[in-house]
Amino acid sequence: MPTKFLKVITVRDKNFEVYLDAKAIDSQVERIASVLDTEYGSTTPFFLGVLNGSFMFISDLLKKYEKPCEIGFIKAASYEGMHSTGKVNFTGMESLNIENRDVIIVEDIVDTGNTLKALHEFLGQFKPKSVKICTLLFKKEAYKQTLPIDYVCFEVENKFLLGYGLDYDGLGRNLPEVYILNE
Ligand code: IMP
Ligand code: MG
Repeated sequence: MPTKFLKVITVRDKNFEVYLDAKAIDSQVERIASVLDTEYGSTTPFFLGVLNGSFMFISDLLKKYEKPCEIGFIKAASYEGMHSTGKVNFTGMESLNIENRDVIIVEDIVDTGNTLKALHEFLGQFKPKSVKICTLLFKKEAYKQTLPIDYVCFEVENKFLLGYGLDYDGLGRNLPEVYILNE
């Protein structure tokens, strides 16, 4: 087998290299979809995608989820450049009804967990029956909250990642792989 060339890309001023290839992502997404299928198959859950980052993950995940479900999106803005700002705003709940529903928050990445904690608290007023959390990536070392992260495709290093929904200053979301900052 020839050694594959390491795929390195440049986005703005930074270099990134492949961290999770599309095949690895696909098989973990498949695994989580089948766990969700078993756990929620009889309940018609409400998958709540957190925009913008989760668009690619939720799309691939729900193509593999074979039971009836509803899908909605909420927009969270909390991150600028490479550092979490701590302030989170949510928009989009006006058009959704999650009262008495089993909600699964779908995130691209859980880093400090600040966004998630704020979202979890925010959702309380809409009276869901249950709320669980599903994320593609989990930076366990960076996590500062206590809410359990119920469904995780990959635990990842505490470094800046890009691609498959994640951006660096607005760029890179469309990459089919996850890249890691090359320092
Ligand atoms: P948290 O509030 O610190 O958990 O960060 C949440 C949000 O920050 C995520 O939903 C992402 O939008 C963004 N984020 C965190 N880590 C990264 C990263 O490594 N690359 C790109 N975006 C990230
Ligand atoms: Mg996000």
